[in-house]
Amino acid sequence: MTHPGPATALRLAPAVAGARILGLGSAQPEHVVTNDELARTIETNDQWIRERVGIQSRRVAAEDALLVDLAADAGTRAVKDSGLDPAEIGAVIVATCTMPNAIPNAAAQTAERIGIHAPAAFDVNAACAGFCYGLGAAADMVRGGSAGNVLVIGAEKLSDWLDWTDRSTAIIFADGAGAMVLGAAADEASVGVGPVAWGSAGDMAQTIRIEEANRSRLGGALHQEGQAVFRWATTQIAPVALRAIELAGLTPADIDVFVPHQANLRIVEAVAKKLRKHGARDDMRVADDIVHSGNTSSASIPLALDHMRADGRLRSGDTVLLVGFGAGLSYAGQVVRFP
Ligand code: UT7
Repeated sequence: MTHPGPATALRLAPAVAGARILGLGSAQPEHVVTNDELARTIETNDQWIRERVGIQSRRVAAEDALLVDLAADAGTRAVKDSGLDPAEIGAVIVATCTMPNAIPNAAAQTAERIGIHAPAAFDVNAACAGFCYGLGAAADMVRGGSAGNVLVIGAEKLSDWLDWTDRSTAIIFADGAGAMVLGAAADEASVGVGPVAWGSAGDMAQTIRIEEANRSRLGGALHQEGQAVFRWATTQIAPVALRAIELAGLTPADIDVFVPHQANLRIVEAVAKKLRKHGARDDMRVADDIVHSGNTSSASIPLALDHMRADGRLRSGDTVLLVGFGAGLSYAGQVVRFP
């Protein structure tokens, strides 16, 4: 490349100290599906699902329900919680891997439904790591000055992409949405989103995929090599979480609340145990939202946060460790401070 010689420097937006959390919200379909109900049509039982995955019930949307409506419900609640007017949101990021079609994206339609006029709007597909990827990007957008306030939503309608006769997936995945609003931190002391620790393992891409031989409402169906992913998650995710803590300049003992992706309660407990071996406190509160929400992929972390706030297990001033992982395989985590 040849350089044309000196030119006027490009002007950048003024940077700020960092991003902080302004609001939180979530939405789930009303319809509850219990393990016993699933056992009527699939060869499974309540005890197996509770013991091997930790799920007691999950929420499943109506066939004609739209993912973008679920996303908009969660987003509207988060914007209301932030105290901002929708007009003050400059960018909307929707983390999702279950839109019915690749085009159009979810974010622009979701913003329209919330009443946010003409924001930057794009989707992130990092599957179950999507919310943490979106949050990482949003925090850097705020910090770099390319957006003032950003709405990040994790929204999934996995029921559309399941083969309801496949017991290895139908008992695990569910529908839901969760959202967070970020804004600028006035100074370093009020920064509420730490640096993201992220990465991927493309050599394991085929372990979670849409399998054309399986049939969902929309075509092929979600398939996962459960044991391979289980082994990967229980060995590779604690180091990512520890890296996120280190990047934030903290130690595991500083973490009040741990909210990993809700893939399987046994994975959640295994990773929490490893963090405790590295100094995390015994009284660190660990999300177990999978019990009544199922595995909602990119929605699971913000859903768990919102539910933990509602039941008093997430409080103002808490230092919270997030880590998402899943198809790609992709993973991401960061430490946030709850306002
Ligand atoms: O969210 C994205 C990331 N995903 C994950 O992190 C998922 C990671 N993997 C897992 O959570 C677990 O591997 C699963 C929950 C998917 C499966 O649990 P598992 O303990 O690995 O079960 P398995 O596939 O090894 O199956 C154990 C046994 C088998 O029977 P045999 O061969 O031992 O007789 C299965 O046929 O359990 C049987 N089985 C079931 N039984 C009743 C498998 N699925 C079911 C079922 N109900 N739904």
